[in-house]
Amino acid sequence: MSDNLVVVEGLHKTYVSGPTRVTALRDVTFHARAGELIAIQGRSGSGKTTLLNMVGGLDSPDSGRVVVAGQDVTALPEEGLLRLRREVIGFVFQSFGLVPVLSAAENVGVPMRLRKTPTAEREDRVRLLLTLVGLEKHLNQRPYELSGGQQQRVALARALANTPRLLIADEPTGQLDSQTARQIMELIRALVDSEGVTALVATHDPSLITLADRVLEIRDGAVTERQAAEPTTTG
Ligand SMILES: Nc1ncnc2c1ncn2[C@@H]1O[C@H](COP(=O)(O)OP(=O)(O)OP(=O)(O)O)[C@@H](O)[C@H]1O
Ligand SMILES: [Mg+2]
Repeated sequence: MSDNLVVVEGLHKTYVSGPTRVTALRDVTFHARAGELIAIQGRSGSGKTTLLNMVGGLDSPDSGRVVVAGQDVTALPEEGLLRLRREVIGFVFQSFGLVPVLSAAENVGVPMRLRKTPTAEREDRVRLLLTLVGLEKHLNQRPYELSGGQQQRVALARALANTPRLLIADEPTGQLDSQTARQIMELIRALVDSEGVTALVATHDPSLITLADRVLEIRDGAVTERQAAEPTTTG
């Protein structure tokens, strides 16, 4: 066995709607080792979300293979996919996706409720996670009572609730100002280091480039790995 947490081999995806065909991924191959923070960069429409959805089992490719933590995502039945998404992968999206009527603490607790984690254990971990993201004083506030950056911190804490091995973040700073975005990216870097999680982060944000272990660049659905010394070419 290798220490690759994520193996992506020869992924192809073409979307067909009416007469239009869009090839979103072309022969995409890469590996992510355990504990790596990988930035996925590329212009709008280049295929970042499509790729992350395939890795997370939210969409299926036309051909190719995705293996996460030793499980072939592309071959799993729906029940196995649900378990993988609940227990192995944590997701963060641009739009935060918090439940408006629940407090920060209750939002973070949702994935643990779904897994029937005992109440005391759940409450301890919720407090720990919200402390980890710097929100220990905001446990009882609802999303609309928090700033955008604070809401994304809650979403990150929630994504880590079930101690996932893989964190998938799609434009996690897309709705934030540049200073707050930088703080969220630094937080993701710190969480990867402290929790030992592997992270795939799609972003236009150049601040992640300096924080990531590796940078993958997608152009028209094809992935190349950018060398550390190369300057940024996309915005
Ligand atoms: N469900 C779909 N049906 C048809 N075409 C789609 C679908 N999803 C994505 N596409 C197309 O696939 C291509 C890649 O889209 P994708 O959302 O992966 O890009 P992206 O890199 O995430 O862009 P952005 O930075 O704007 O989020 C685009 O041309 C898009 O129009
Ligand atoms: Mg996208």
